[in-house]
Amino acid sequence: DWTTGNVIEEQVAAIREQVGDKRAICGLSGGVDSAVAAALVQKAIGAQLTCVYVDHGLMRKGETEQVEKDFVAATGVQLKVVDAEERFLKALAGVSDPEEKRKIIGREFIRVFEQAQAEIIADEGPAVEFLVQGTLYPDVVESGGGTGTANIKSHHNVGGLPEDLEFKLIEPLRKLFKDEVRMVGQELGLPDEIVQRQPFPGPGLGIRIVGEVTKERLDLLREADAIAREELTAAGLDRDIWQCPVVLLADVRSVGVQGDGRTYGHPIVLRPVSSEDAMTADWSRLPYDVLARISTRITNEVRDVNRVVVDVTSKPPGTIEWE
Ligand code: XMP
Repeated sequence: DWTTGNVIEEQVAAIREQVGDKRAICGLSGGVDSAVAAALVQKAIGAQLTCVYVDHGLMRKGETEQVEKDFVAATGVQLKVVDAEERFLKALAGVSDPEEKRKIIGREFIRVFEQAQAEIIADEGPAVEFLVQGTLYPDVVESGGGTGTANIKSHHNVGGLPEDLEFKLIEPLRKLFKDEVRMVGQELGLPDEIVQRQPFPGPGLGIRIVGEVTKERLDLLREADAIAREELTAAGLDRDIWQCPVVLLADVRSVGVQGDGRTYGHPIVLRPVSSEDAMTADWSRLPYDVLARISTRITNEVRDVNRVVVDVTSKPPGTIEWE
């Protein structure tokens, strides 16, 4: 009989058996899968698990705090947060090309994450044998099986570690689909804000600024995005929408008027979509009053934004993200 209770019980027993008295580490992305995987392993082995969260400064408003406070409060997990904002912004300086941004963000992410792992291992000794991953059933099928071990190359030489660390993988969600993962997360007591989270790209707001990524632009986009999310949630639309990227056209300016003065600011694009699997998508027909509230608030509350536009393109031909 499939119940979330059975799945949890079975996995907890299996993880305890597999790990024994060794230690495990888990990377948290802020997404559903890694959060539920971590919570499940935490339930099984408690303080033998350490989680790592890399804050690349490209997160939305409140997201890092959500991991730092809500996730820790719900699970009691040991968490190492790495503040890497400066490093990422430096690496991204002067870069406007979307694929170049992705490459830089991916590369820096792996470096920071590996360094954090190496520090944990240096602190805790060679007993760190396991790496937790939130692999789902569709991921397993897509990649044709999976291997059970991961080779993490470490070039950082922290504490005289070997050049190649081999981890055994713990993948407690390997047999589950997304909706089942959400049910397991709920049963484990994770807050709705984590369990029901809409998809968000790994490179974060870095690929939602058309143009160069700077701290100032990120702060501006974070404000606009927070307003859009707040209003969509208040209107009860979260479950109807697959996701709603909010995009800053940093290289575009248009003329506006505010009070007695002329403005020359940037447009914000709203990109609400409905989808089953993100392979195809349609633009969401949001109620006009909700759009009006979002537009009024963003243009009133966000400095340098004087125009809000809605993307009414399906995928294909448009992608969900603008970059
Ligand atoms: P597109 O823009 O290709 O997006 O229609 C499809 C889905 O993938 C997400 N996305 C990404 N996720 N790294 C990620 O982890 C990326 O570089 C990336 N680009 C797009 C996007 O948010 C949507 O859910």
